[in-house]
Amino acid sequence: MIKPFYLDLSEQEIELIQAELGNILRSGQLILAKHTETFENEFARYVGTQYAVSLNSCTSGLQALLMLKGAKHRKVAVPTNTNFASVAAILREGGIPIFMDMNPNYFVPDLEILQYTHEKHPDIIGVVWVHIGGIITPDFFEIAEYCRTNNLFLIEDAAHAHGSMLNNVKAGNFGDGGVFSFFPTKVMTTIEGGIVTTNSLEEAELIRSIRNQGKRKGNYGGLHYDLGNSWRMSEIEAYIGLIQLAKLDQMIAHRAMAVNNIIPILEKLNIDYCSIKHMTQASLYKFIIKFKNGCTASEIKTKFSEENIILGGAVYNVPCHKQPVFENLSFEPADLFISDKYCPQHICLPIHSGTTDEDIDSLILAVKKHII
Ligand SMILES: Cc1ncc(COP(=O)(O)O)c(C=O)c1O
Repeated sequence: MIKPFYLDLSEQEIELIQAELGNILRSGQLILAKHTETFENEFARYVGTQYAVSLNSCTSGLQALLMLKGAKHRKVAVPTNTNFASVAAILREGGIPIFMDMNPNYFVPDLEILQYTHEKHPDIIGVVWVHIGGIITPDFFEIAEYCRTNNLFLIEDAAHAHGSMLNNVKAGNFGDGGVFSFFPTKVMTTIEGGIVTTNSLEEAELIRSIRNQGKRKGNYGGLHYDLGNSWRMSEIEAYIGLIQLAKLDQMIAHRAMAVNNIIPILEKLNIDYCSIKHMTQASLYKFIIKFKNGCTASEIKTKFSEENIILGGAVYNVPCHKQPVFENLSFEPADLFISDKYCPQHICLPIHSGTTDEDIDSLILAVKKHII
């Protein structure tokens, strides 16, 4: 059975975590102690930003950044092809999400789509950009420049993009703050968790406060300065993060090996997929394969499951403007027609750092049989 998720921890690593959990419990320092600090420093170093601040989830990190950017009652552009959380964070912060369509080649918006959205909504104050499946659009430097020159903040929702790089710049280091998720299915995990990356000392300090009930500068006494929350990461999660981060590039390289074996077959069969060739490195959280009309994604999922291959979640078969929870948000259907057309028509192969050579052979056979 080929499954979409794989927890990449060796027996030795699990033993290390068990032993360290004992040490943490005995020390009584369960949160905001040495592992959290080391993990944040190491993650910032990996992404290339000056600071990183860990939290209990990516969603909290997005909301914290939106709070700092003043999103309340203001319009914020966001792709419709994203996880619920990107849009929910804007709404929870009291902002107004403005949906952007996507470029079918990469399943993310592009500069033209952003400019169109901005012309139509000159009052947007910023953008929550999402590197879907770990794909950084080829024109992302231009997008960052456009945001800078037009006074729009650019938050990168990098929940899928650990280690993704365009022209040697890592996701999370292009704009005015990035946020990563460490949910169990992600490229690396801390079980639950998230982290904000930023080059602003002031914002890093404020996020440290917001995640800790508004207590500033490590002052854990009685004064609360910001309307924060209880959004801390625990010490054991930070320790797991350190173990995962140490082998992140290795885990990504394994995903790349699998994908590089499959791409030539897709090209030979004229099967369309989202290319990552323009990137220095892609996290390959999801490898997006597009299929033509005639089948639904759930029919293809059933066919694969009959071959003992479980396809994981796609990114995304239902774009956010079609989600029941967001039905009251306003948009013009004609503005989102590419997402409407392509989102339902793709699958993501179950590829991860545990994918074996036999798995690759089985995936190739199933693709040849079931994708047209
Ligand atoms: C694009 C995107 N943003 C944000 C999130 C939220 O992450 P978390 O579960 O860590 O809050 C997810 C979760 O899957 C996601 O896919």
